Amino acid sequence: MGIVVGAAIISDGRLLAAQRAAPAELAGGWEFPGGKVHHGETDEEALIRECQEELGVVVSLGERVGGDWPLGDDMVLRVWFATVVAGTPVAREHLALRWLAPDELFDVPWLPGDLPVVRRVRQMLPDLLGLSE
Ligand code: C5P
Repeated sequence: MGIVVGAAIISDGRLLAAQRAAPAELAGGWEFPGGKVHHGETDEEALIRECQEELGVVVSLGERVGGDWPLGDDMVLRVWFATVVAGTPVAREHLALRWLAPDELFDVPWLPGDLPVVRRVRQMLPDLLGLSE
């Protein structure tokens, strides 16, 4: 079972979404930045590495978003909230980046595996942003 990690990066109340460049069948779809966990690294180390590689930033990881989200038959997606502690995200490997406000979260065509996670992020966001009553 392969493990893919993703970052729900929040800044100024907005969620960072990244548009995949490859492979062809996923290109144009939007995802949480991240990627496969390598042998010998923890999930958290992998996610920090991927954010550095893909976005050129150092992130600090916060709360996990749910548990294992299925990606097909042989992979799971694990997602953490994150904040940028150094740098400004740039699309090094993606086609584009967007900072989505809470009312824009579903304005992009998320990859099917990421979409249920975005729904969970939406549920968790008010608490995270300190906006809950
Ligand atoms: O980014 P990377 O190619 O390493 O990811 C491996 C696979 O995990 C992708 O082919 C894609 O199917 C899936 N993935 C995803 N959502 C993400 C990251 C990766 O569905 N946020």
